[in-house]
Amino acid sequence: MKIGFFDSGFGGLSVLNEAMVRFDGYEFFYFADSKNVPYGTKSVKEITDLSINACKFLVDLGVDAIVVACNTATSASIVALRDKFSLPIIGMEPAVKLALNTFEDQKTLLIATPATINGTKLKKLIDKLNASDFVDALALPKLVSFAENEEFTTDNVKLYLQKSFKNLNLNDYSSLVLGCTHFNYFKDILKDILPDHIKFIDGINGTLNMVSNLNLASKPNNLVRYFCSKEEIQNLDKINRLLNRLDFVKSIV
Ligand code: DGL
Repeated sequence: MKIGFFDSGFGGLSVLNEAMVRFDGYEFFYFADSKNVPYGTKSVKEITDLSINACKFLVDLGVDAIVVACNTATSASIVALRDKFSLPIIGMEPAVKLALNTFEDQKTLLIATPATINGTKLKKLIDKLNASDFVDALALPKLVSFAENEEFTTDNVKLYLQKSFKNLNLNDYSSLVLGCTHFNYFKDILKDILPDHIKFIDGINGTLNMVSNLNLASKPNNLVRYFCSKEEIQNLDKINRLLNRLDFVKSIV
């Protein structure tokens, strides 16, 4: 069976990387919309149009299901995508519920893109959980371009993060929700900057649980192909470097 993964860029590799460990015998197609990254500073309409194009591309490749490995695209367009396409489409949302369940009655800090933070989907989720007093949100849009440029632990990144966290009382939080798939690349530098007790939470497992529930048939080995805004990526050097980085930061929680 074929599963398409889609993200504005290479953040969604963090989801694919886990899927490759967890599932056997699927054909994976990864679509990075690198020509249009970032999505997180675009309007809902722009993100929706781009997400529809990305899904069309994957549907034309014959995928059986799509994982929107992007919180921003899910927030802006999951309803439109499910209206438009008949195959299963699994989205990602910031794992606020998991954070609140894991660290009961303690505050969490959500980091995500501006579009996710300002989106109605997140507001609805927080209202549903009755958690507005327990969730603070901080937009970190620059981390997306740092990740795309493979800039992970430079002084620029460190200063950007220190400045962004400056006005928060970090001791208030038990957990940090990584609400953008690009942010997984920065776990080591985040660990260095944040107080030790803060634990990282992401939505990758929750999303992959939904893939499991689809019960798609599989063959003996996984196959994977990568596309960059519709062009198949032939030179996998960058992808391999990014996957190695994700393996390197994987155990940081
Ligand atoms: N990786 C994306 C997410 O999970 C969005 C990054 C962007 O293009 O702004 O939200």
